[in-house]
Amino acid sequence: MREIINVHVGQCGTQIGAKFWEVISEEHGLDSKGAYHGDSDLQLQTIETFFNEARGGTYVPRAILLDLDPGSIDTVSSGQFGGLFRPDNFVYGEAGAGNNWAKGHYTEGAEIIDYALELIRKETECCESLQGFQITQALGGGTGSGLGTLLITKIREEYPDKILSAFSVFPAPGTTDCVVEPYNTILSLNQLIENTDLVTCLDNEALYKICFSALKLTIPTFADLNHLISCALSGLTSTLRFPAKLNSDLRKLAYNLVPFPRLHFLTTSFAPLSSRNSQHYRALTIPELIPAIFDAKNQMCACDERQGTYLSASIVVRGRMFNHGIHSEMECLKNKKQQFVEWIPDNIKWSVCDLPPKGVKMAANFIGNTTSIQEVFQRVGKQFSALFKRKAFLHFYTGEGMDELEFTEAEENINELIYEYQIYQDAESENEDAMEDEEELK
Ligand code: GTP
Ligand code: MG
Repeated sequence: MREIINVHVGQCGTQIGAKFWEVISEEHGLDSKGAYHGDSDLQLQTIETFFNEARGGTYVPRAILLDLDPGSIDTVSSGQFGGLFRPDNFVYGEAGAGNNWAKGHYTEGAEIIDYALELIRKETECCESLQGFQITQALGGGTGSGLGTLLITKIREEYPDKILSAFSVFPAPGTTDCVVEPYNTILSLNQLIENTDLVTCLDNEALYKICFSALKLTIPTFADLNHLISCALSGLTSTLRFPAKLNSDLRKLAYNLVPFPRLHFLTTSFAPLSSRNSQHYRALTIPELIPAIFDAKNQMCACDERQGTYLSASIVVRGRMFNHGIHSEMECLKNKKQQFVEWIPDNIKWSVCDLPPKGVKMAANFIGNTTSIQEVFQRVGKQFSALFKRKAFLHFYTGEGMDELEFTEAEENINELIYEYQIYQDAESENEDAMEDEEELK
């Protein structure tokens, strides 16, 4: 078995995590206590990647839920699926990090980190051959971002040969009442660049847009956003959880998607989109699903991939494909090819997972490495610089013992990252220009 341990940090991280486990438990035929009532051998074949089979035959998530205040963890543990988790794996402090990255990373977080690492160690002891870790977190608050990245650094130190994959929620400007979110986000990104192998970027700005325009929700809530996120996470992990030929482990996924170590920030999308309470899915065919997952409106990052170029991408099609040869799907992609760099052969990978998500016969998930992701970093970077130039709110951070220099370094590191993406983007448009010139000469 090649197990994956999940750690959900902060209010957003634990809410997304809880929703994820709820969705995948159903897919594996488990009830809210982890007992199996499924109807397909496929559900159990590789279930131990994410679940530990406990005494009595129930399945327990390989998951730790961690927060500096008790609120969100209380909600999960007393909720319908609370009994699914190992009770010892709920860890919480008393006061929260109050939207302060320094509290999560240095002061309050430091008090809880050893205990969390001990729980992780215990989880690793239940694994035969651990492949890596998945972390869910928001970057805008204090705990998911500050403590989340502290944990990532510590995991990297202790398990340097394991893959570390983060699912990170970016703040949407204008939707929260916390002014220092750009600080927390950039300080976190600075750490994620160095210490993770993959980061799937989940941008609240894009998620709100999907809710407003595609799903026609007038007042979307976090539960609506988290529903979308759980659909993405369930699809992206489906090749890890069910037997699949491609991207069947985290390392292969990272190999296929990350040509340069720092450029490991990914966008994602899925189709068909549905809202939380809607049961009215329209059955889509492969030729409809593929354009939908490439559609800018469906992307969970507020960046326009048409402005950039793809270094790599992976597509998972879920459902039984009796009447659809895989070749016809490749046809659907032909007109997308020009958006991909030429110098990485086979940079679009396919895989098929026989089990569709609940409620549909067929679905598709996309994860891509596009240079246009820099737009998201630019957006937050600009807000960061506007505050930092004036040293606004800095005293909250220096008050926790943080040095201003760490802000400067983080700002520089993000600018450097944006520059690196831009180099590949420019090289590609120069290529295109050269090709056009050649054509004209002919
Ligand atoms: P502190 O409360 O400051 O200790 O840290 P925390 O990690 O618990 O904060 P939280 O997770 O609330 O992070 C705040 C950021 O996450 C803001 O940008 C929120 O808009 C966003 N956020 C909070 N909860 C959710 C959620 O359930 N779903 C989504 N998509 N975003 C959320
Ligand atoms: Mg919180």
